[in-house]
Amino acid sequence: MTSQGRNSRLPGFSKLSAEARLEAIASFAGLSPEELLPLGSPDNGLPQSIAAHMSENNVGRFSLPLGFATNFRVNARDYVVPMVIEEPSVVAAASFAARLLRDGDGIIARSTDPIMTGQIHFPEPPPEGVLERCIEDHKGELAAALNRLHPRLVAAGGGFIEARVRRLTHPDDGHPLAVIHIHVDVRDAMGANAVNSMAEEAAPLLEAWTGARVGLRILSNLPMHRRVHVEGHVPLKAGGGESAMDPEEARRIVEASRFAEADPYRAVTANKGIMNGIDAVLLATGQDFRAVEAAAHAFAAYEGRYGALARWRIIDERLVGTMDMPLALGTVGGITAVHPAVKANFKVLGVTEATRFAEIVAAMGLAQNLAATRALASEGIQRGHMRLHARNFAVQSGATESEVPEVVAAMVALGRSDPQAADLCLAELRAARSRS
Ligand code: MEV
Repeated sequence: MTSQGRNSRLPGFSKLSAEARLEAIASFAGLSPEELLPLGSPDNGLPQSIAAHMSENNVGRFSLPLGFATNFRVNARDYVVPMVIEEPSVVAAASFAARLLRDGDGIIARSTDPIMTGQIHFPEPPPEGVLERCIEDHKGELAAALNRLHPRLVAAGGGFIEARVRRLTHPDDGHPLAVIHIHVDVRDAMGANAVNSMAEEAAPLLEAWTGARVGLRILSNLPMHRRVHVEGHVPLKAGGGESAMDPEEARRIVEASRFAEADPYRAVTANKGIMNGIDAVLLATGQDFRAVEAAAHAFAAYEGRYGALARWRIIDERLVGTMDMPLALGTVGGITAVHPAVKANFKVLGVTEATRFAEIVAAMGLAQNLAATRALASEGIQRGHMRLHARNFAVQSGATESEVPEVVAAMVALGRSDPQAADLCLAELRAARSRS
């Protein structure tokens, strides 16, 4: 079944050559040869002249593998998802789990409006009530001053929403501290620039209105009001089927999920697996992955104890996974308009709205968690990883493209995946070929 004309189910994609995969991606996303070019080129179309101005003391550019996860369906629409990652098996695992989660409308994702928080810190706050009264009395004036900075954001339906007082205590002596949070709808931007400039603009106004000194004024990277909720399900059916799972396998996944929910040692590893998928998409799309990582882990610990981001249960003959997380992503700003491969990857995704983009990213995290948990709850990950690691070692040992499959097969038959085994299998293969 296709959704809205796009079918991300690309059977045999993993068996194609890199060139043929690019052609399949181009035909899936309707990319022109020029648009496709940065994805296949060694520097991803990023000229040194641009790279040199992105960050300081630059000496060049740095490559990582780019791949595409297939099979994704989110809110009844199909997606092929770009991923930049060096770890073997993450892209394959995402594609596999996305196939399991394709049933019906696929993964269902819901997001809040894209609301970010800025913090204006009062190290020696005035008596309780003063800050509260100030933001109430000057509501309109504050909104006008902050929105004046970003007319385009306001025209797009975003802008300053409200200010709230947050009271804290000093960690050393218990003295009061206060913060004014400003909430800003940043629309399709990640929002750091808009929020930081608004916080800096608000600070002197608040000082003048309250007589209290402002300390820091900066974006919070914990966007509790910019969240995505995803829910995925896999029908249970003995014997399988393309998008179905054996009930015993599902029971083991639930058991593993409960372990992660109960134990921070396990939760952090499960969450790392979720971030394997999420970070890979963020790198491919030029996002601030450090901000997303920081927020994800703070959110996982928000109730006072670090917990699992995702949760799996069996409900009505289906394995159901849910996950809620903050995601501050942008489809405009940053390097999204500058980096040729980032632009091409957004075209492949076919999204322009930041909230839709965040829904795909969260769906990727949930799929990755399903794949990792399923592997761990059955054969373990080492056997599954073995072939992929073996391929890396075969390439490192100098095997040519035509030799790699045979070297890998020999290593798997030996039950070994290490550099010495790759050297040995390559030498044996070459000796056998020279004899024949
Ligand atoms: C490895 O990069 C990620 C996993 O450890 C995640 C998990 O344990 O769920 C496999």
